Amino acid sequence: MSSRTVIRHGLVITASDEIHADVLVEDGRIAALATPHSHDWTADRVIDATGKYVIPGGVDAHTHMELPFGGTHASDTFATGTRAAAWGGTTTIVDFAVQSVGHTLREGLDAWHAKAEGNCAIDYAFHMIVSDVNDETLKEMDLLVEEGVTSFKQFMAYPGVFYSDDGQILRAMQRAAGNGGLIMMHAENGIAIDVLVQQALARGETDPRYHGEVRKALLEAEATHRAIRLAQVAGAPLYVVHVSASEAVAELTRARDEGLNVFGETCPQYLFLSADNLAEPDFEGAKYVCSTPLRPREHQAALWRGLRTNDLQVVSTDHCPFCFTGQKDLGRGDFSKIPNGLPGVENRMDLLHQAVVDGRISRRRWIEIACATPARMFGLYPKKGTIAPGADADIVIYDPHAEQVMSAATHHMNVDYSAYEGKRVTGRVETVLSRGEPVIDQREYTGRAGHGVFTPRSTCQYLN
Ligand code: URP
Ligand code: ZN
Ligand code: ZN
Ligand code: ZN
Repeated sequence: MSSRTVIRHGLVITASDEIHADVLVEDGRIAALATPHSHDWTADRVIDATGKYVIPGGVDAHTHMELPFGGTHASDTFATGTRAAAWGGTTTIVDFAVQSVGHTLREGLDAWHAKAEGNCAIDYAFHMIVSDVNDETLKEMDLLVEEGVTSFKQFMAYPGVFYSDDGQILRAMQRAAGNGGLIMMHAENGIAIDVLVQQALARGETDPRYHGEVRKALLEAEATHRAIRLAQVAGAPLYVVHVSASEAVAELTRARDEGLNVFGETCPQYLFLSADNLAEPDFEGAKYVCSTPLRPREHQAALWRGLRTNDLQVVSTDHCPFCFTGQKDLGRGDFSKIPNGLPGVENRMDLLHQAVVDGRISRRRWIEIACATPARMFGLYPKKGTIAPGADADIVIYDPHAEQVMSAATHHMNVDYSAYEGKRVTGRVETVLSRGEPVIDQREYTGRAGHGVFTPRSTCQYLN
């Protein structure tokens, strides 16, 4: 049976346009846009979006549901994390499957499929974390690209866990240059950082704020520079994840001015929080431990500027929640044992809308950095990331005037604190469709685990 929904009288915002239009949804896809009152569409359901924005569902290209880290697991499952994402207006996540050292990419990918399948409220896709580059792994990369897992994260940090040395990085980049894969880099000099960690602990500096002090901006910039040059040598494009240091943005800017296919992502925590949070007393700083770390406030200007100049193209969350009680706790007396990561999959669209309200970015740029470009970067466009005939009907009705206060008491992420506790923002998700089906309906959850499906991706659609 075919089903038809009409969303009428809203302001449709995409990365390229803002138009007052009605949207016809048929069988899970966008069928047409038309001037209000110019058509005679019939529908099973009419959503009145008068005074509201009609925007593409958010595409969060960086999440870690159930990630094993530091002896524990990220506290959101695919079920809870995708439900929370929907509450926050995100309708697609790209999560990171993990290859553990000594295992194949296939084993890691199968494990992630098993965690996600049948549990997701919204559509999902996978990147692959490559922790063990060898001849077999390199061949497997080609197979994964064919299966729609077209991006690979490597780590210059975390020696002994996810770390790759420069030779391993170069080899994976050479492979990606051949098979169309996109290398995503965690750019921090982990070897040097580990020395500084040991020296800090030996001095008795155990508090969370030292996490930010040892993971120096210069060591992010150095690794960013090295990754860029390795990619240049390999002839491969590069996407640097969770950029936080102004010096790292400068490296990206320089490379892009040279015409290289180098891209950068930042996250709301680097735009809205700072090293001051890491210094909160009574171990509260542990709530803000992630890597790259929150930086002194001065770095924020470079990130906002990068988003305006397109030297940074994407804002993702790096959603990787750990409860304060029982998980962040593991690092009392030793900051290096605090599991790294912040919750945020539910907050991203609203925080970036606040940036619109504050005049930092335009409405169209909001949609570009949160929906359209992540979809293009990771081969999901125009199925995801826009409102156009033929696209999946992943649509958010957004109330730009509603006020809300972010809080763990009201959020839907499975974590016992909010990184933005008490923050007032203007704008709120009202209704969310995923492939035409209401997941959030006028602020009621109407979705179901298993509605969301694995979404294979093409290769990067954002190259120069
Ligand atoms: O602190 C973070 N970012 N945790 C998640 C793992 C990663 O490096 O992205
Ligand atoms: Zn009318
Ligand atoms: Zn990382
Ligand atoms: Zn991450």
